[in-house]
Amino acid sequence: MKKIFLNLGKQPIANSFLSSISKNSLQKEYFYKLKVCFDTENFLVSVKDPVNPKIQYTDEYAHRASESETMRNAFKLTAKKLHERFKPKKVMEIGSNDGVFLKNFKKNKVIAVEPCKNLANLTRKKFKTYPSFWDKKLSNKILIKNSKIDLVFSSNTISHIPNLKETFEAVYNILSDNGVLVIEDPSLSSILKINSYDQFYDEHVYVFSALSIESIVKKYNLKLFDIEKINNHGGSLRYYICKNKGNYKSTARLKKILSEEKTQGLNNLKTFKNFAKRVHKSKQQLIALLKKLKQKNKKIISYGATYKSTTVFNYCKIGTNFFHYVTDTTKNKQGKFTPGMHIPILPPEIGFNESVDIAYLGAWNFKKEIMKKEKEFRKRGGKFITHVPKVKII
Ligand code: TMP
Repeated sequence: MKKIFLNLGKQPIANSFLSSISKNSLQKEYFYKLKVCFDTENFLVSVKDPVNPKIQYTDEYAHRASESETMRNAFKLTAKKLHERFKPKKVMEIGSNDGVFLKNFKKNKVIAVEPCKNLANLTRKKFKTYPSFWDKKLSNKILIKNSKIDLVFSSNTISHIPNLKETFEAVYNILSDNGVLVIEDPSLSSILKINSYDQFYDEHVYVFSALSIESIVKKYNLKLFDIEKINNHGGSLRYYICKNKGNYKSTARLKKILSEEKTQGLNNLKTFKNFAKRVHKSKQQLIALLKKLKQKNKKIISYGATYKSTTVFNYCKIGTNFFHYVTDTTKNKQGKFTPGMHIPILPPEIGFNESVDIAYLGAWNFKKEIMKKEKEFRKRGGKFITHVPKVKII
C-alpha cells in the first residue's frame, strides 16, 4: 500500500526555465503538488501524482549532461568498464541526452534513444538516434533493423519514466538472451543519509533502492544480479540486471547492499516519516541562515540553476527576497528565470564577480569541482552555503 510521507508543496516543472516573467507567461506556468510516498509492498518510493512526460521532455529541454567535467569523466570511465566486462556487440542507451556516454563507443555499435528533439538532434549526426519515448512499440521498431542488444544502458532516466511495466517489458523484448541492462539512478539510501530532499522533483518519479529494484524487476522475468555504489549526484547506485535465464550469478556485494538497506530501514515506513521531520528542520534552518546573512547586508546569489534547487527554492519560498540572481554555465538557462520563484539567471562571467559575498551551492553534487574552480572567490573571503548534508557555511 502506498503511504505519503513527505509533502514538498506546490512545485513547477524543474526544467521549465522561463524566458519572460510577463503576466501572460506567469499565467501559463504549470504547477503540481509534490507529495512523495512509500509502497509498503515493494519498498518503492515515488512521486504520488507524476507529471505527464510530454510536458517535461520537450524540444526545449535544458539539461546537458556534458556541462560538467565530473560527469564527462564519469561516463567515459563507465563506458570503458562496461565495454571490458561485457564486450557488447551492440549498445543502446535510453535517455542519451547529448551523447556524453555513447560517444565513448564506436559509432556503428550504438543506438541512442532520446525523446527531447533538441538533444536527439545533437546526436543524430554522430550515431543512430531514435527521437522517441522508450516503450514496447519503439523496441519493436528498433528490432526491425537491428539484432537484439547486448548492453542496454540508462543513466538518470528509468527513474523518470512513470510506466515501469512498459519500460521493463520493452527492455526484455530488446535484450539478447544473455544481455545486460545497466541502470544508474540516485540512491535512496544516500538521500536519506545526506538529507538531499531536493532529489525529489517532477522528473524523479521514482527514487530507487536495491530492495525496490530487486522486487520490481522480478515481475518482468528479469533479475538484479549485481550492484555498485557510485559517487554521481551525491550518491547513486548502478544496477546490473539480466533476464532470469541469463548466465549471471548474484554477487556478494549485492547481498551486502541489500542487507545494509534493511539495516537502514529502507523497507520500513517509519524511516521515511523520520526523514520528513529532518527535511522540515532543514527548511527552517536554511531560511534562518539566509535571514541572518541578509540582515548583515551580504550579497547572496545561488551557484548553479539546478533542478534540485527548484525544489528547495519553491519548498522554502526562497527567491529574489534573498538571492540577487543565480549563475549557471549552461547557455540555454542564461537570461532566463528559475521555475516558480523566478530568479534571474546570469552567466558566471557576469554574475560571479567581486561583489558576491555568499553563494548558495545549488549544484552541491559538483562541490569538489566547484571548490577547485572557485579558489579565488574563497581566498578573498567569499563563502558558500549548502543544505547538504546539513545547513552550513563552507
Ligand atoms: P544538474 O545537477 O542538474 O546536473 O545541474 C547542474 C547545473 O549546474 C548545470 O546547469 C550546470 C551548472 N553548473 C555551473 O553553473 N557551474 C559549475 O561549475 C558546474 C559544475 C555546474
